[in-house]
Amino acid sequence: MTPRVPTTRRYLMCPPRYFGVEYAINPWMDPDQPVSTERAVAQWTRLRDTYRRLGHTVEEIQPQPGLPDMVFAANSGTVVGGRVLGARFRTAQRAPEAEHFRRWFVERGYREVVMPAKINEAEGDFAWTGRLLLAGTGFRTDPLAHAEAQEALGVPVLSLRLVDPRYYHLDTALFVLSEATETGPAHIAYYPQAFSPGSRQVLAKLFPDAVLADAADAECFGLNGVSDGRNVVLSLEATALAERLSALGYAPVLVDISELRKAGGGPKCCTLEIRK
Ligand code: ARG
Repeated sequence: MTPRVPTTRRYLMCPPRYFGVEYAINPWMDPDQPVSTERAVAQWTRLRDTYRRLGHTVEEIQPQPGLPDMVFAANSGTVVGGRVLGARFRTAQRAPEAEHFRRWFVERGYREVVMPAKINEAEGDFAWTGRLLLAGTGFRTDPLAHAEAQEALGVPVLSLRLVDPRYYHLDTALFVLSEATETGPAHIAYYPQAFSPGSRQVLAKLFPDAVLADAADAECFGLNGVSDGRNVVLSLEATALAERLSALGYAPVLVDISELRKAGGGPKCCTLEIRK
């Protein structure tokens, strides 16, 4: 079995102090369904502490009243090689989040911070494989933002088209299990049905060894995982996917994100990775 080697990560997260489902901008959100902010905070805190227990660094940004989705930090930045590409949200409800994150990066001394001109929901739609930036479009991020990301970050970008409204961000349908190294290719997991036929063919060609998830894995947000190359943080219900990953040498760590899922998010959505 391939030995799975973890690498230490740096994450930026936002406590869900003002979390709620106050509007519906994806099929998971129902403002009539009761939501407990307290439970969301407890689940988020356990997620943060799980990362710290695994040896990762977690930084926090201060949540803002009136921005109930700000907990989904992944949507506010794509950071590769210390360069920061900020966000431009598709919906008016989330638009102000981008500036809070931009300021966070600038105040902490990041010198290369670029704000996109095109709609760009950051790591919600961008996944770094170590060599390539996989980029989703179809619901949120503008395909022209992909070219913008390539210019701003100086890495090759590969466009992929999402076709199922439940999987409106790339990170709800695909994640990187281990990044490419000098000696080996990246290993990813994805739900093929979330992608257009052409994008499926591209994924199959580029990642012949990928873990192909099924509808049940996807529905519980199992593809919204966070891997450090060995430990894979997954939503509690993703037991079938967890078993398959264990058989491949990974160490799944299950977390309850049921409250955050009411807004259409999971572990990855809450986690912006800062790659120096
Ligand atoms: N309610 C949020 C939205 O629709 C959820 C974002 C989830 N984030 C993610 N990275 N998929 O924008």
